[in-house]
Amino acid sequence: MADQPKQGMENFYYENPELSDEAKAILKNYSGIPETEQTAHVRAVRDKAWQLYRYPCIGRFAFITFSIGQSEHYHDALQRLKSGQNLLDLACCFGQDLRKLVIDGAPPENVVGSELEQGFIDLGYELFNDSPEKLKAKFIAADFFDNSGSPAPGLEEHSYDMIHAASFFHLFGWDEQVAAWDRALKMLKPKPGSMIFGRQTAVARATVLKHPATRSGEMYRHDLESFRDLVAGVAEKSGIEVDIEVHYVDGRLGAMSAEGWKMVRFCVSLK
Ligand SMILES: C[S@@+](CC[C@H](N)C(=O)[O-])C[C@H]1O[C@@H](n2cnc3c(N)ncnc32)[C@H](O)[C@@H]1O
Repeated sequence: MADQPKQGMENFYYENPELSDEAKAILKNYSGIPETEQTAHVRAVRDKAWQLYRYPCIGRFAFITFSIGQSEHYHDALQRLKSGQNLLDLACCFGQDLRKLVIDGAPPENVVGSELEQGFIDLGYELFNDSPEKLKAKFIAADFFDNSGSPAPGLEEHSYDMIHAASFFHLFGWDEQVAAWDRALKMLKPKPGSMIFGRQTAVARATVLKHPATRSGEMYRHDLESFRDLVAGVAEKSGIEVDIEVHYVDGRLGAMSAEGWKMVRFCVSLK
């Protein structure tokens, strides 16, 4: 586990989660956790995760909002999974978005979660009170930037029809984002319609941020134009033709919006 400066993250540590009706229903019906115990349960797992690494989305319980379901591409993705296509949830943390897909009817063998920290994958089983026997989806613990030798099984080129990535690319500086997008685009099956979709924080005017949640200490925060420029540049370099959709969305960002942060949703699909 990488060391992380602990200062500057207090604003992102919320006392209690606000559980939506959807979250309550999933915790009750899928996980068997009575409503009276849900808040304490979610908080207890969050506190263990906070000790592993202090990401804002963990501190402020963003994981329990199942952000994939708010994507305009969610229903398309779900139908494609039901018809046999596959999806990687890149940097899946607890695997909440992957579980939402399975709960909504996606065949579990068609969804894969990849995540740097095995500890977050393990806490996902605790959060949702399930097990590898109950949830047949595959999880891969691997560093997405690892290019020392052959990729971890499941992270090879041309493996996926769809990749979902929420709050991942924004963690890094420009050059690392270029490397991550290059790898992700090459992991798509090379055919029209293969896509990478998700959401991340953004700003009105692109900037480099110092942020204690990053390992390098620096994040490149996009506006719409810089996002398009980065992805288009990566795709062009590899001779991949893409459509790039990206737009700002309203979000419940609390402490984040106080710092001028916004949220974008994006979908990059192969032509
Ligand atoms: C901010 S969280 C977002 C998690 C989840 N996608 C969500 O929306 O709740 C970022 C995740 O990226 C993972 N991560 C960071 N660096 C990574 C890397 N090099 N390879 C794979 N995952 C990484 C972290 O462990 C963490 O789970």
